[in-house]
Amino acid sequence: MKTYLVTGAAGFIGANFLKYILKLHTDIKVIVLDCLTYAGNLGTIKEDINDSRVIFIKGDIKDNDLVKKIFDDYHIDYVVNFAAESHVDRSIENPQLFLETNILGTQNILENAKKSWMNGQDKNGYPLYREGVKFLQISTDEVYGSLSKDYNEAIDLKLENEDLKNIAKDRKLQTYGETFFTEKTSLDPRSPYSSSKAGSDFVILAYAETYKLPVNITRCSNNYGPYHFPEKLIPLMIKNVLEGKTLPVYGDGKNVRDWLYVEDHCKAIDIVLRNGALGEVYNVGGFNEEQNIEIVKLVIDTIKKLVEENAEYRKVLKTEIENINYDLISYVQDRLGHDRRYAIDPTKIATELGWFPETNFENGIKKTIVWYLENQEWCNEVASGDYQKYYDKMYGENI
Ligand code: NAD
Ligand code: TYD
Repeated sequence: MKTYLVTGAAGFIGANFLKYILKLHTDIKVIVLDCLTYAGNLGTIKEDINDSRVIFIKGDIKDNDLVKKIFDDYHIDYVVNFAAESHVDRSIENPQLFLETNILGTQNILENAKKSWMNGQDKNGYPLYREGVKFLQISTDEVYGSLSKDYNEAIDLKLENEDLKNIAKDRKLQTYGETFFTEKTSLDPRSPYSSSKAGSDFVILAYAETYKLPVNITRCSNNYGPYHFPEKLIPLMIKNVLEGKTLPVYGDGKNVRDWLYVEDHCKAIDIVLRNGALGEVYNVGGFNEEQNIEIVKLVIDTIKKLVEENAEYRKVLKTEIENINYDLISYVQDRLGHDRRYAIDPTKIATELGWFPETNFENGIKKTIVWYLENQEWCNEVASGDYQKYYDKMYGENI
């Protein structure tokens, strides 16, 4: 039986991962550590933490005494570190918090894992560790910086790797550029958020090199799906369309992101945890590059179609169906230092570990919107006073 320490599991991806592993593996124990920032919602995982296999601990990854106690009290085999400050716009407002949580918090877990897992030394003085343990960091493609956008319109993506071609089968793929992030791309972070994530990646790689700590890093592209906090692009646009509110699109709306369905990401994390070669980094991408404005239009079109077809969904609307159209879009001031394009080359994880993003965007966005339409209670719960204050501060004067 494996015992996991999953940090940040009350947030978007961590919660999806918790649900995923509880369904997939019967014989596991999971310790959840989350300090419940504005982005952590216990309601998201209330059924999961009632499961006899799960123990929830409210606390901070920076708290050395607490993290030490967790390693003392439980026989932790796997650490999966989701806990982080994760929103670029907030990092521009308050960079220090990002450095503290994302770098120092991660280092605190690494240090405690090292001490707890160490069971000897080799002849060169390197620590030796208990069999079967691993620290997995959930990082981001944003550590690589920004790629050039070479095309105004998407073109067909032609795969060169034969293995990847076989895995991708008939899937229609598109791109806006000639270059992609691979695991060999140099780190070149540009926002306080991405620099804090790059900082934690470097610390982890230093622990792997200096202390031979068994680690993996996954660097994923933009996730979307259920339980996504409505300050990020897709859930914010869904929320605003349903409420008939303006849709704030930064700059010219032509920045490109590579969208990954969160359950596909959870599968990748589970595979890397179990089969990833020690010390390796794996990029996890959705094979779905799209411009923000196209995403926003697709959200509008998909919601419109769903509410026209289903009377139950119409009850969720806080506006008239006629108001659901592109007039909701409002171009607002651009984000400072806004990265132009992200695009991941997932060849390594696909060919070495057999993972592929199975959900195409059309299906993924429909599943996501249906989830939001059917889970309004969750949406209302997270749209608390704190959220409203943040929203007013961010967009109040712009739209
Ligand atoms: P999120 O903001 O939704 O959730 C973060 C969780 O971490 C919350 O539950 C919060 O309460 C918890 N947390 C924050 N600070 C903490 C601390 N000091 N101690 C304990 N818990 C703390 O984030 P997410 O979108 O689920 O992202 C999870 C991870 O994946 C992050 O590390 C992020 O950098 C990375 N990532 C996310 C995306 C994405 O598209 N969402 C893309 C690439 C990488
Ligand atoms: P976001 O979801 O914040 O993720 P990230 O910045 O980590 O990629 O933003 C995705 C893209 O959407 C990014 O290019 C910024 C843009 N964006 C908007 O145009 N309007 C918005 O209100 C938000 C939140 C994001």
